[in-house]
Amino acid sequence: MLRKALKAADLPPEEAARVASTVFTYYRWLGWLENERGIEARLRRAMELAARFAKNPFSLPAGHLRAKAVPQWVWSEVPLNDPWLRTIQREPKLWLRARPGQGRALAKSLGDCKRFGEGPLADALQYTGRKDLFLTQEFQEGAFEVQDISSQAVSLICAPSPGETWWDVCAGEGGKTLHLSDLMQNKGLIRATDRAEWRLNRLKRRAARARAFNYQASVWDGGPTLPFHGLFDGVLVDAPCSGIGTWQRNPHARWTTTLEDVRELAAVQGRLLAHVARAVKPGGKLIYAVCTLAASETTAVADAFESAFPEFKPLPVSNPLIPEAPPSARIWIWPQHAGGNGMFVAVWRKEAA
Ligand SMILES: C[S@@+](CC[C@H](N)C(=O)[O-])C[C@H]1O[C@@H](n2cnc3c(N)ncnc32)[C@H](O)[C@@H]1O
Repeated sequence: MLRKALKAADLPPEEAARVASTVFTYYRWLGWLENERGIEARLRRAMELAARFAKNPFSLPAGHLRAKAVPQWVWSEVPLNDPWLRTIQREPKLWLRARPGQGRALAKSLGDCKRFGEGPLADALQYTGRKDLFLTQEFQEGAFEVQDISSQAVSLICAPSPGETWWDVCAGEGGKTLHLSDLMQNKGLIRATDRAEWRLNRLKRRAARARAFNYQASVWDGGPTLPFHGLFDGVLVDAPCSGIGTWQRNPHARWTTTLEDVRELAAVQGRLLAHVARAVKPGGKLIYAVCTLAASETTAVADAFESAFPEFKPLPVSNPLIPEAPPSARIWIWPQHAGGNGMFVAVWRKEAA
């Protein structure tokens, strides 16, 4: 809605960025504004709080953050976590994914980029500049995608091999489909489905720019009738969720998301997993990913799935953000780990026949 309003206002890019940042700041600090009268006083107070916090994140006691930064129902779902609260009160980082092996070269040609580092996320770059990235030659030529670093970690956890067949069940606009395609070196096949056709249409435009050809997109509503007869080496369920892990980037959602949403979406996630389980080849992988940190949507869904489908065994994998940590079949990514969205990923292998 904000993006639409800014487009309609036709402001110069710098001015539009300033308005967007003010709106986000307002929602990030909304919990502190109840005593301010009038929108101007509220905006001024929000900007003051943000500036003070940016200078010194310990200027506010943990108790204030726990009480005001998020609605209180959250604490029945998310473990108390002060580093999380201190992170989501700051401006989020903007992450890019360069094409495989091109991270260093892209950082040089775009400028104003910080590489995440060597290792599995060597092509992840934080962009700190002010250019409209979508107008750059590099973007037009498909040299990078704008993609959160935690989302990049999900495709790396999938670890598809060239020539395999994968199903990206909730492909949306294709962030992970395109990354999977890159990891598969454009070889093999990815079925990309979503219930929203308009999202798949965007996926197709992005895929054309990225020259990703090893995919087929089709609408699927997530119901019990599967859209394909074949079996897949890997199935990724990047499921619809409450998005609690994105509250740094989408502060408005803190005040509109409810516990009821969390419970309803957990049920949708459980149904999607149950429906697609039979499409995994014996010996193949099933990956469940959500950008939320709520227990009902994450561990509870994974526990229920494991009880109902004992042929799926937890498959320990490394966390690409922390490769030195011991492998685990359940990966938690918190915004404070790298400045990306919070995510939960569970990985299973279906028993060989
Ligand atoms: C987290 S988003 C996917 C993001 C995408 N994988 C990416 O990396 O860009 C979840 C997607 O699930 C889709 N969705 C919601 N309910 C669904 C359902 N019942 N069946 C299939 N897809 C669904 C939404 O349209 C949305 O695109």
